[in-house]
Amino acid sequence: MDIVVRPGSSLHGTLAVPGDKSIAHRWLILSVTATGTSRLLGVPPSLDVRSTASCLAAVAPKARPSLDLLGGEASSAVEGGGSTWNEEVEVPALEPLEVQGEGRGSLQEPASGLDCGNSGTSMRLLAGVLAAAPFRCLLTGDESLSGRPMERIASPLRAMGAEVETTDGHTPLSIAGGQLHGIRLELSVASAQVKSALLLAGVAAEGVTTVIEPAATRDHTERALSALGAPVEREGLSVSVRRFQHGGFDGKVPGDPSSAAFLIAGAALTGSRLLVRGVGLNPTRLHFLSVMERMGVQTRVEVEGSEIGEPVGSIEVEPSDGVRSVRVEADELPLIIDEVPVLAALAAHATSDSWFLEAAELRVKESDRLGAIANGIRALGGTAADEGSDLVIAGGGLEGGRADAGGDHRIAMALTVAALGARTSCRIDGVEAADVSFPGFVATLRRAGAELERP
Ligand code: S3P
Repeated sequence: MDIVVRPGSSLHGTLAVPGDKSIAHRWLILSVTATGTSRLLGVPPSLDVRSTASCLAAVAPKARPSLDLLGGEASSAVEGGGSTWNEEVEVPALEPLEVQGEGRGSLQEPASGLDCGNSGTSMRLLAGVLAAAPFRCLLTGDESLSGRPMERIASPLRAMGAEVETTDGHTPLSIAGGQLHGIRLELSVASAQVKSALLLAGVAAEGVTTVIEPAATRDHTERALSALGAPVEREGLSVSVRRFQHGGFDGKVPGDPSSAAFLIAGAALTGSRLLVRGVGLNPTRLHFLSVMERMGVQTRVEVEGSEIGEPVGSIEVEPSDGVRSVRVEADELPLIIDEVPVLAALAAHATSDSWFLEAAELRVKESDRLGAIANGIRALGGTAADEGSDLVIAGGGLEGGRADAGGDHRIAMALTVAALGARTSCRIDGVEAADVSFPGFVATLRRAGAELERP
């Protein structure tokens, strides 16, 4: 699906974003592996989350009826119905999602391979859980996921005692799980997915599992396990767990701050005031607000409550008068790993060059995001280059043009937002990719006043 973005939009109002994809993956996994019933509100119909639900349904017969409602036909944005355009986001009628869990030990061998679609988080987190399950299964993914590195997860799970085979370091991933033992591992890559997989394996392992990160990453797994009573010990960049079986739980998934980032950037580029409510305010996800502040975008964050250890509240954007360039250092990257595309979209409208240093990890995301952003910005009439592991975006604004999302949800949304500030109309091809994390993205922006049209 293509979209035309007209110049001169102004955004306003109070908006909500779909539930947080990272948290939803974890809570779904934890609900299926719990002993007892869990009731989850706000699970987003994002395609990635539906991939996790359909994989879990295949190994957890008792939870299957409710998970099937969420997980059905999850493999592509096109099959997802292009809901990003719909005026009302089509959330299946499953509120609350009631999941029957019978404990980790009840998981059963699936009848066929588990298709993780486009979702690296599904594959890596599920690998951690399945490493402790006494059967063999095969995890597959779409073309994008098949190109992403899997040895980073396979190697530590082998060290814990699971049989894990990759295909030249990639998918399909074959796992024969069994009795695990704890390990102490210093990760070479800052990755919340790898850390989480090891912690999920660690609560099923004998002894202590300790993961030491090279830099802080999102901590949703630690927070959820702690809130459910698991013995989680955290000290600096080190986190340890021991064997623990949690019970069922109730929770409402907070709105996704990474999705809110696109709305905030859209407001900044159109000089608008905007309020995003019900959004997750976990500090490990909000570093993008500090980077935006350095760019001249003022926001106010208010915590109003918490859910399973996750702070929730609102983010208000003040009208800004143009944006400044920024230099993002290597040590900031892990905390804005998903927001570099949207920050780059802002940077294209800054007064001078912006730098994102040592950002090579972005080359192994859903697409080579360094290349995709630079290409997209150039296609919209700006100047950008990806050089080795750095991204340089020249400011000065965008003239207008036509760019392709290349099947990557965050590139689709970043280019749409960048186009809101362009001098003439822009056309973005493949915007339906947004459904992977933000179903209803286009509808939400239109409701806020953005001039978005079908070509
Ligand atoms: C995620 C972790 C990040 C992020 C991804 C979601 C998670 O990946 O990019 O969108 O939910 O743990 P890495 O941990 O591989 O950096």
